[in-house]
Amino acid sequence: MTTIPTIDLVDALAAEYADKSPSEILKLALSQPGEIAISFSGAEDVVLIDMAANLGLPFRVFSLDTGRLHGETYQFIETVRKHYNIPIEICFPETEAIQQLVNEKGLFSFYADGHQECCGIRKVQPLRKKLATLDGWITGQRKDQSPGTRNEIPVVQADPGFSGPGKQLIKYNPLANWSSSDVWNYIRLMEIPYNPLHEKGFISIGCEPCTRAVLPNQHEREGRWWWEDATHKECGLHAGNLKK
Ligand code: ADX
Ligand code: SF4
Repeated sequence: MTTIPTIDLVDALAAEYADKSPSEILKLALSQPGEIAISFSGAEDVVLIDMAANLGLPFRVFSLDTGRLHGETYQFIETVRKHYNIPIEICFPETEAIQQLVNEKGLFSFYADGHQECCGIRKVQPLRKKLATLDGWITGQRKDQSPGTRNEIPVVQADPGFSGPGKQLIKYNPLANWSSSDVWNYIRLMEIPYNPLHEKGFISIGCEPCTRAVLPNQHEREGRWWWEDATHKECGLHAGNLKK
């Protein structure tokens, strides 16, 4: 490929790569001209970093530090940085906006008001700012993570949430068709580091006040924003999923 894919080409690529392996999809993404980066949450999406390192192509990684991650997640992000000897670009929320929210509504407003306002400031705005500097991004989203909102995500798509007039952003979801078991088989087989919270019953990991461990046979999404309606469990990073 010599140019950033157009919308028509993205649809064709989505069809062509629908059944390809995560590594092949990642290779396609990293071969795209322009700026592209892996969006790393500090959880099991570490497999994308491992695959990228194995491909031997240059790659960038960024993480959104909401200020509310678990201590284990901060330590894990640091472990990954050292293990792969890569920079991890950390994105912080705007000081004024978060200060105003916390001073007006306290540190746990999301339990009363819902998570959208806090996620908007701590995650979505910093992501928007980062994506404004990129032509594409690579996520660890999978269909099985959230049957209600993610069961149709393609392996590559014109970003439904952050593209705008004059800005076509391409979003790659190389793990879309992998199950949680596929991811964990890879982590074990390749002996790569993982977030120690997974050993304490956490499956899906986000911010500390909004994430909890799940019981056997509970779906992983039940550990996120558990006080809210199960059909709206997208924080805004992947809000485009909700339109489906
Ligand atoms: S969330 O929208 O509900 O928080 P989830 O935890 O399922 O997302 O993670 C799905 C993908 O979103 C991750 O694999 C990663 O690509 C991206 N993501 C989620 N949280 C972050 C974060 N804090 N920093 C960077 N990327 C993130
Ligand atoms: Fe705020 Fe919770 Fe969203 Fe984190 S997950 S940004 S703490 S509402």
